[in-house]
Amino acid sequence: MSELRIHVKASKEYDVVIGQGLLSRAGSLVKEAVPKATKILIVSETNVAPLYLDTVKSNLAKEGIEVFELVFEAGEQSKNINTITAMWAVMAKAGFTRTDAVVALGGGVTGDMAGFAAATFLRGIGVVQIPTSLLAQVDASVGGKTGIDLPEGKNQVGAFHQPSMVIEDTDCLKTLSFDKFTEGLGEVIKYAFIMDRELYDILEGYENKEGLRNDPGMLTKIVTMCVNDKADVIKGDEFDTGRRQILNYGHTVGHVIERDSGFTKDHGVCVAKGMGIMIDACLATGRMDSDTHDKMMDLIRAYGLLAEDDITPEAAVAGIMNDKKKRGNTISLILVNRIGEAEIVPMSPDEVLDLLRGGKTN
Ligand SMILES: NC(=O)c1ccc[n+]([C@@H]2O[C@H](COP(=O)([O-])OP(=O)(O)OC[C@H]3O[C@@H](n4cnc5c(N)ncnc54)[C@H](O)[C@@H]3O)[C@@H](O)[C@H]2O)c1
Ligand SMILES: [Zn+2]
Repeated sequence: MSELRIHVKASKEYDVVIGQGLLSRAGSLVKEAVPKATKILIVSETNVAPLYLDTVKSNLAKEGIEVFELVFEAGEQSKNINTITAMWAVMAKAGFTRTDAVVALGGGVTGDMAGFAAATFLRGIGVVQIPTSLLAQVDASVGGKTGIDLPEGKNQVGAFHQPSMVIEDTDCLKTLSFDKFTEGLGEVIKYAFIMDRELYDILEGYENKEGLRNDPGMLTKIVTMCVNDKADVIKGDEFDTGRRQILNYGHTVGHVIERDSGFTKDHGVCVAKGMGIMIDACLATGRMDSDTHDKMMDLIRAYGLLAEDDITPEAAVAGIMNDKKKRGNTISLILVNRIGEAEIVPMSPDEVLDLLRGGKTN
């Protein structure tokens, strides 16, 4: 059983361990990450728990750890304070101390909430992330952003709380639905575009694109490259005030499409559309050459994602101005004009409108 380790350097340093079959070693890995913990709360949800909870639970118990569990109803609608309160209650009743810890077993919803409960219980206890979706493995589980949604908007309440370890078992991806796997690829492709030309070459040259989900060796390689990229970005900008913003490539317009759909369209699908719209706009306004344009669009489509949407430039800009990420009247737009290189360009709403209209007249 091979494993790869990526060391993340943030306010707290930790390892991301990636490989096949790691769940069966969860006990010793968790023990390594939080050696003083005698009690662990495993947080999971109704889709993931039946598949993987027993393995993780029995593995932790083998290490002499007292295990508690909280399984919530799967889905973004559970990402609220009630679920957090339920986690706090289990830990309080069981007499958790500051050296005890939480394990998040699930996708990004589970990781964000388990991380937030850990960040706040007794003013902060350890959390080990065990992400099971592609999106959570390449993005959500690394970097320490945790939180919940409010009726007023997604991820409105939260905290930065770095995990003590991230355990990524790529075998878990086998049970992911086709749609959830594909949307995760939207984020994978994003890394290739913003900072990783080598990843682009690997994705582009891979022969069996439709069979990727059944190729664990290749998946491990790709996930590892993405985590390396994310770790690299976080190292210099843990709190998202500078370079970390390049991770928002495709997200500025993508978020608007996602929200306008009432969140019926998957996040990664909207990111792919958002990237496609930026790629068209950069070509139409002379920022990008047509060869690069075609290569980028082809890659998005080759992995089963759409690179366009019928949102108008006006609706996109109106939506962006409603987004929490705007700073005053300036939008930090992420542009990629050469594969593997992103820049953060501050623009006024009118400038963004011009850029996007350029795209539409193409
Ligand atoms: N903290 C961050 O930096 C960060 C970054 C990106 C996204 N997020 C958050 O992550 C969430 C989205 O993540 P997600 O797409 O993983 O959502 P999710 O946790 O809802 O998982 C997606 C779906 O896949 C299922 N699933 C997960 N793993 C599975 C497996 N191995 N087998 C079968 N089914 C499985 C889940 O039950 C769910 O239905 C959002 O709430 C978003 O805000 C956080
Ligand atoms: Zn995203």
